[in-house]
Amino acid sequence: MRGPADPVDEGSARRTAESARRPAEPAAEPAVAPAAVHAGDGWALRPASIEDVEEIAFAELELFPDEAWNVFQLAAEIEHPDRRYVIAATGPQGKGEMLGYAGIMLAGDIADLHTIGTRREGAGIGRALLGWCEGQARAGGAERMLLEVREDNTRARAFYTAAGYREIDRRRGYYRIRGRRIDALVMERDLT
Ligand SMILES: CC(C)(COP(=O)(O)OP(=O)(O)OC[C@H]1O[C@@H](n2cnc3c(N)ncnc32)[C@H](O)[C@@H]1OP(=O)(O)O)[C@@H](O)C(=O)NCCC(=O)NCCS
Repeated sequence: MRGPADPVDEGSARRTAESARRPAEPAAEPAVAPAAVHAGDGWALRPASIEDVEEIAFAELELFPDEAWNVFQLAAEIEHPDRRYVIAATGPQGKGEMLGYAGIMLAGDIADLHTIGTRREGAGIGRALLGWCEGQARAGGAERMLLEVREDNTRARAFYTAAGYREIDRRRGYYRIRGRRIDALVMERDLT
């Protein structure tokens, strides 16, 4: 779903299936927004809103320096009716400092994990974000969650494997990062 005109040349499709890399169409209706969920010690999950775009963009630069999404791409994502984005932030309602974020695309019986990232690794935030996304995927009718991950992202691969995902495909040379080709692994989890 990444925005650049040529996603492969820009190495822009770090996280999602092919279909998910199309630029988001304008939103027809607002996304469903469940209430904040207490998730961890001093932090909580809440649905992302357009006000979060700038902070997510900063986090993108920290977490994905080679392929950060910009505020326009993120705004189109968050406002799209088939996307569900979540924020992890400090405070009981998740209104404090942003600690992480994630988002999915709903596509019939499949959902694609578009992005996930945490600023405080190893504290269970990623697991909570992913669980929220899976819950939203199920609620939206998805029976499977798909994602793409760079082959060299060993931490994310371990994280997904621990969450029950398995590799189902490899896309050779899918990413080009500073001229270097890196394979994408497609991973999947049954949500039924
Ligand atoms: C991948 C990422 C989202 C994981 O989030 P996290 O908050 O650190 O993960 P959690 O603390 O919820 O860990 C959940 C489980 O994943 C596994 N896991 C997480 N990090 C791991 C590591 N470095 N090695 C092995 N297993 C790991 C563990 O099983 C862990 O459970 P445990 O703590 O009970 O052992 C986070 O590291 C991140 O933001 N990375 C940078 C951005 C990125 O690469 N995103 C993915 C793009 S495809």
